[in-house]
Amino acid sequence: MPPVASRHALGQPVLRGAMTPRRELSCDVTAIHAVHVACFPADAEARLVDCLREARRLTVSLVAEVDGEIVGHVAFSPVTVASGATGIGLAPVAVLEAHQRQGIAARLIEAGLQACREAGFGWAVVLGDPAYYARFGFRPASEFGLSDEYGGGDAFQAIELIDGQLPMNGGLVQYAPEFAELE
Ligand SMILES: CC(C)(COP(=O)(O)OP(=O)(O)OC[C@H]1O[C@@H](n2cnc3c(N)ncnc32)[C@H](O)[C@@H]1OP(=O)(O)O)[C@@H](O)C(=O)NCCC(=O)NCCS
Repeated sequence: MPPVASRHALGQPVLRGAMTPRRELSCDVTAIHAVHVACFPADAEARLVDCLREARRLTVSLVAEVDGEIVGHVAFSPVTVASGATGIGLAPVAVLEAHQRQGIAARLIEAGLQACREAGFGWAVVLGDPAYYARFGFRPASEFGLSDEYGGGDAFQAIELIDGQLPMNGGLVQYAPEFAELE
């Protein structure tokens, strides 16, 4: 049976096809690197993923595989606030151009957030376009008294994954040290 297109409530992503995100395997590492190199102007994001993995801070790493090819990837790594509360940061996410606008990133992000929730992370942050990330439930992090290191403004967003665990007025959210080395 062919895949069925579906549109959820207004503002929800359109999800087509049968692709189910899965966790990365060691044999996926080169293909994941290649996806980020292809999707970003430079190889900084690809190197960031490699460095996070090496530092054992690639907490959740999901791939999208279509017909045996890795066409998308999303990474999550720990973030902290001054109180010591630890959340999870979504970055980077990429889908090969030929496979974009089919809801693949949406599936990676939704599955990734669920995996983070199941791993016990109570909140997540992302730096990205609010028009895109709002559909997953992200809100401007400033509404929760959270700020970022990059002057992201409303692009810096947060979501509570487990009731009551988002640190209200937690202040500055710090990404893993590997992000500081990103050029
Ligand atoms: C952003 C990206 C991962 C989206 O992948 P995708 O599989 O096409 O995403 P989806 O199909 O789930 O969603 C497509 C929607 O995202 C929007 N979109 C695409 N790129 C976007 C971006 N950089 N910022 C915000 N929205 C974007 C599209 O306009 C589309 O919106 P619509 O649903 O209203 O039509 C992909 O375009 C990509 O790899 N871009 C280059 C890398 C990048 O910029 N990553 C994000 C920053 S880490």
